[in-house]
Amino acid sequence: MKIKGPIVFLSHLVATYFVVASAGNFYQDFEITWGDSRAKILENGQSLSLTLDKASGSGFRSKNEYLFGKIDMQLKLVAGNSAGTVTAYYLSSLGSTHDEIDFEFLGNLSGDPYILHTNVFTQGKGNREQQFYLWFDPTKDFHTYSLLWNPQSIIFSVDGTPIREFKNLESKGVDYPKNQAMRIYSSLWDAENWATRGGLVKTDWAQAPFTATYRNFNAQACVWTSSGTSCSSNKSPSSSSSQSWLRESLDSNGIAKIHWAQKNYMIYNYCTDTKRFPQGPPVECIA
Ligand SMILES: *[C@@H]1O[C@H](CO)[C@@H](O)[C@H](O)[C@H]1NC(C)=O
Repeated sequence: MKIKGPIVFLSHLVATYFVVASAGNFYQDFEITWGDSRAKILENGQSLSLTLDKASGSGFRSKNEYLFGKIDMQLKLVAGNSAGTVTAYYLSSLGSTHDEIDFEFLGNLSGDPYILHTNVFTQGKGNREQQFYLWFDPTKDFHTYSLLWNPQSIIFSVDGTPIREFKNLESKGVDYPKNQAMRIYSSLWDAENWATRGGLVKTDWAQAPFTATYRNFNAQACVWTSSGTSCSSNKSPSSSSSQSWLRESLDSNGIAKIHWAQKNYMIYNYCTDTKRFPQGPPVECIA
């Protein structure tokens, strides 16, 4: 039954697939999970802010669990001296064999560049880090960070520019996240032991509280229900055209953009880390 589940689901998916198109209200879509009043929903639900001080960070998560989606969020990161701070924004399921798709923003001294750290976990296994500098100052304005997660691939985008793709390579024996529903999580926390220059630069608590702000959450996504066997919507089924994200893949323009981002802004790629993988890179890097 466990093995059959996904197959049953996929056939159901073809027959009646309802998606939620949600132009978000933070009260409706999210709940604060830790940090007490350090996390705040503002402007009647139009924005949310997280803060970090010496005593604690803060975080929130989506009320819904999703199985596939195209999810956009705008973030404005901790400004000024953000060294030692990490703003994590990710999708994750639960348990030791969980799936996870990560954006993590590693802060820096004023004027020095943030690192955008990305990773993909499947069946509890990560070790797929890629890191980038950004082509703008992510603390001055809001920028859109998007995850497209469908049965064929996962695409990370920044302001609509794809920077990373993780393809479904199950045919080559690589696990792919497709059976475990995930929530959206975000948190702002202290990681001075590793975040900035590998931990050399510590958090300056004289600058606290540190604040990151969120707005314009937008999800075209499949909401997973407690029965776990069907994918239904709490809104009316959307028109067939708006479900195109389920089959979306990178076109030649998207591939060119990924090459641009990787050529000019990628600072770490596990695929080329021969020290770490002396036996040769993981399968998904060469497939
Ligand atoms: C911080 O700035 C330094 C110096 O430019 C750079 O080497 C480092 O990659 C930057 N980012 C982080 C998170 O350490």
